[in-house]
Amino acid sequence: MKVDVLLGLQWGDEGKGKVVDVLTPQYDLVARFQGGPNAGHTLVFNGHKQVLRSVPSGIFQDDKINIIGNGVVLDPILFRKETEELKTKNVNVVTKLYISKKANLILPTHRILDAAYEAAKGDGKIGTTGKGIGPAYTDKISRNGLRAGDILAADFHDKYSAAKSKHERILASLNYSYDIAELEKEWFDAIEYLKDFKLIDSENFINNALKDNKSILAEGAQGTMLDVDFGSYPFVTSSNTVCAGACTGMGVAPKNIGEVYGIFKAYCTRVGSGPFPTELFDETGEELRKKGNEFGAVTGRPRRCGWLDLVALKYAIMINGVTKLIMMKSDVMDDFDVIKICTSYNINGNTTEEFPYELNDAVVPEYTEFQGWKTDMTAMTSENEFPEEFNDYISFIEEETGVPVYIVSVGPDREQTIKLEDRD
Ligand code: GDP
Ligand code: IMO
Ligand code: MG
Repeated sequence: MKVDVLLGLQWGDEGKGKVVDVLTPQYDLVARFQGGPNAGHTLVFNGHKQVLRSVPSGIFQDDKINIIGNGVVLDPILFRKETEELKTKNVNVVTKLYISKKANLILPTHRILDAAYEAAKGDGKIGTTGKGIGPAYTDKISRNGLRAGDILAADFHDKYSAAKSKHERILASLNYSYDIAELEKEWFDAIEYLKDFKLIDSENFINNALKDNKSILAEGAQGTMLDVDFGSYPFVTSSNTVCAGACTGMGVAPKNIGEVYGIFKAYCTRVGSGPFPTELFDETGEELRKKGNEFGAVTGRPRRCGWLDLVALKYAIMINGVTKLIMMKSDVMDDFDVIKICTSYNINGNTTEEFPYELNDAVVPEYTEFQGWKTDMTAMTSENEFPEEFNDYISFIEEETGVPVYIVSVGPDREQTIKLEDRD
């Protein structure tokens, strides 16, 4: 068996949580491979809405094992809050959720450092989620991190103190004042709580599962445009959000990757700072935000909105080796007269379809216009009901990218999901 990977092709919030939840019945295991509580993955079913941050989105489907892989950074405090809430909803997290011993921990001082680095950047700030993601990954790469498996070791407190001292020196050099006494207590309580969970060598578990013919879905967080190597650097997150990240974040060999589901919104959004060529500052942008309810799942921050960017989408498809596309939130544009897709960039007078080194101010989007379908699609259940203009929209995307659209999502609910027949 192979690991299928589902990941975002834009700047995050594409709707990954919803689709992972929908696809989970086809799989035995669901695993997160990178990111941490910077993610906010929304699931809607039976009139119930749930936002998940570190817990994989397969957790609500019966009898499925969910794994937090080695590539994830885990904040014990937020993990505790999230799982305690799930317990009140009768989700048996302790039996269904396994955690890699190699997942790095987010320390209280990582959160403080995140805030201090942002403050020091002034106008150039990244607009991080403030969850300590960058500092935690920095410690991992510089070999100063604490891992989930360390919590069982006798010298855990010593390791913690050594890491904290390093952070304190940095914070002092930044003249950043803070008080972590309470946070630290909460953190150590949460460490005790974590000990109830199954801490495993997840790379062995996952590879043994593959040998036993178990099927696995890997759930990406963030999106390709936020990847630390290929995104709009430095306005990115601190992990590899792309398909290759699933190999390192789970311990899966490239030959064991199967389908790569690339998920995108029928338009585009971004939270935080950084370039966004197709961003709309007019009424249309406001309409997308309002109808799409484009406010952060965790922070509530308004998301910046714009037209679909095919140049960036094709680049993301290339980097990830996407085999199937999943298009979300087209319903948000159900009553638009005209819909635009950016099909090329104009850079200093030259038209190009190639994604440039930098998305700076010189990058001007060039658009192809489409007639809106002007039909409420939210109750549709089959592609046979699709209006002609909508078919034209997806056919154009399929032709341009060379990748079939496999699923169209027409609303936030689990049920508002339409699987398409092979359109080749
Ligand atoms: P994720 O981070 O990729 O899991 O996405 P988020 O949960 O952060 O953001 C997606 C938002 O869009 C959530 O509020 C979802 O409930 C909502 N959503 C998902 N799919 C659809 C859809 O097809 N139509 C509409 N209108 N909303 C959707
Ligand atoms: P999901 O999984 C959207 C953005 C932040 C910021 C940048 C760096 O829900 O799609 P970080 O806290 O990671 O250091 O912030 O990345 N960002 C996201 N934007 N969706 C996410 O996750 C994001 N996770 C991080 O807004 O611009
Ligand atoms: Mg999100």
